[in-house]
Amino acid sequence: MLDRFNILLRLLLVFYTTLASANAAQQEPLALQTAGYKVGDKIPVTCLNRTIDTGEHITDEAGQLSYIPFFTCNETGRPLELLFGIEKEINCTLDFIDDPFFHLLEFYVHNDAPLTCRIPSKPLPPSALKEEFEKGAVDKTDGQGSLSEIYTPLVVALAGTLQRSHLHVATNLNVLLHAAPKSIAPGTIAAATAYSISRDPPKRLAIGDSFPLQFSIRWYPNTSLPSGWTGVGGHLTFSTLVYCALSALASAAICVSYFRGVELPRRLKSHGKDRLGGVERGGLGGYGLSNGYGYGVGKHD
Ligand SMILES: *[C@@H]1O[C@H](CO)[C@@H](O)[C@H](O)[C@H]1NC(C)=O
Ligand SMILES: *[C@@H]1O[C@H](CO)[C@@H](O)[C@H](O)[C@H]1NC(C)=O
Ligand SMILES: *[C@@H]1O[C@H](CO)[C@@H](O)[C@H](O)[C@H]1NC(C)=O
Ligand SMILES: *[C@@H]1O[C@H](CO)[C@@H](O)[C@H](O)[C@H]1NC(C)=O
Repeated sequence: MLDRFNILLRLLLVFYTTLASANAAQQEPLALQTAGYKVGDKIPVTCLNRTIDTGEHITDEAGQLSYIPFFTCNETGRPLELLFGIEKEINCTLDFIDDPFFHLLEFYVHNDAPLTCRIPSKPLPPSALKEEFEKGAVDKTDGQGSLSEIYTPLVVALAGTLQRSHLHVATNLNVLLHAAPKSIAPGTIAAATAYSISRDPPKRLAIGDSFPLQFSIRWYPNTSLPSGWTGVGGHLTFSTLVYCALSALASAAICVSYFRGVELPRRLKSHGKDRLGGVERGGLGGYGLSNGYGYGVGKHD
């Protein structure tokens, strides 16, 4: 009896230690937090540092890609931050386009190099997060590429045209962020993108100008895009049909009550007066509503 108990105890011990070591192995590279973002949590945006001569990405001695914070917004004095689950408009103005940044803009607009950014899919551990916000970081994903679990790529597709001495850039951007379904991975970012829209005419930009970006940020609770087409050519939905029928009924009701309550008594009155005065009314009497119908009702009464 005691022997059996002993064996059981040992088995449990073995089981426990293997569990523990498996756990430790998983936490080896930049431990992924198990807790996700909460609504309103700040998300840092970092972008690939690129050389200004060729637009190529910059790597450190170890060959790791170098990500630096998105440029500092004049509005906040900090690099761009997204808030988990919060849809809003954000203005982010770069105070002064210097020579190197202008050259980078030329690369982005001319599609020689994309403005490649990324955001942590889940909150980073506090120390890494601080670093990310303040000075960016080298690629912590050990070259796993852009489908790493730790970061979600956010490529900013800046549209514009290149002129001899200046650029035209569409500075209004939509930012779409997909969270993973809450039931599968709560508080986790699954996909992201940003692209120029032509809401306002493109901004003319030269060296020394400010660079006013306006972001419209939208969040989706899963990775499927809702159908957004309800305008001309969109499918007729049941609710649209019901709405049309109801408004037709309502306007008919208003017309009928107007006629019975206002127009009909007036006509009856003026009909009576006309008779008294012996003046037959001409075409004017039928103005608006059909003459025959109006008088016809009156005569029957
Ligand atoms: C980006 O790379 C350039 C060239 O190596 C370097 O001078 C610059 O400091 C880097 N930017 C940041 C913010 O680290
Ligand atoms: C952003 O800037 C535009 C143009 O300057 C302004 O109309 C808008 O109100 C600003 N939006 C926010 C959220 O500050
Ligand atoms: C940026 O902010 C500074 C100080 O708040 C202000 O003096 C400057 O005019 C701003 N620049 C732009 C382009 O808004
Ligand atoms: C995704 O989210 C939308 C709400 O934006 C919801 O209507 C839809 O049913 C969801 N799809 C799935 C597959 O959960």
